[in-house]
Amino acid sequence: MMGLICNIEHFHKRSGPLKFFLDTANIDEIREAYSMGMVDGVTTNPSLIAKEGRDFETIIRDICEIVDGPISAEVISLDVEGMLKEARHLAEIHRNIVIKVPMTVDGIKATRVLSQEGIDTNVTLVFSPLQALMAAKAGATYVSPFIGRLDDVSQDGMVLIEQIVQIYQNYTFHTQVIVASVRNPLHVLESALLGADIATIPFSVLAKFASHPLTDKGIQSFLSDWNKSKTC
Ligand code: E4P
Repeated sequence: MMGLICNIEHFHKRSGPLKFFLDTANIDEIREAYSMGMVDGVTTNPSLIAKEGRDFETIIRDICEIVDGPISAEVISLDVEGMLKEARHLAEIHRNIVIKVPMTVDGIKATRVLSQEGIDTNVTLVFSPLQALMAAKAGATYVSPFIGRLDDVSQDGMVLIEQIVQIYQNYTFHTQVIVASVRNPLHVLESALLGADIATIPFSVLAKFASHPLTDKGIQSFLSDWNKSKTC
């Protein structure tokens, strides 16, 4: 990311605190993070679903039973009609289902129709600010810029978040920015500094910033001093 501190004047506030979505289709991970009170929603994608080796709709239903928040389920079709058919079916599973639609011309057309039908959408695989602008104009509920995959090709993913947040603020779009493809705790910190609405976080990353080695060391030394005083 461009300097965390020197660009502070460009940061601005979004309404409400940064929400944490869990980026997984694994039920055990969702239960564990939910019991910490750290799951405002869940995002899945075809790769995450495939990893679980279980039926797509069963997984989605199971997630909806645990989490009372937006649950993204992605369509597989690449044409508008196919996307709409899948989307309408998925939306009937539960009121919290959000339809994840790829950022293509057909995806944008489908987003527009679904938005008119009152079905929540999450336009995914967003890699440029103009794609995000298009998604917002089509009425997307959420947009998912993939920052980790940009970092992987030597492009600063956080710059994209800064640009999208700025554009949405300039024109008071209601589309919410989900920072996706999060790979480490700093991505979450930077999301909060930039005023993104949501970070969708893999369980492994959430676990990393829940703890700190100095916290563990401090507990050990408090306990050791306590036990020493008992033997005196
Ligand atoms: C979430 O909506 C995305 O599908 C996910 O964050 C992609 O993450 P990856 O780039 O690590 O696969």
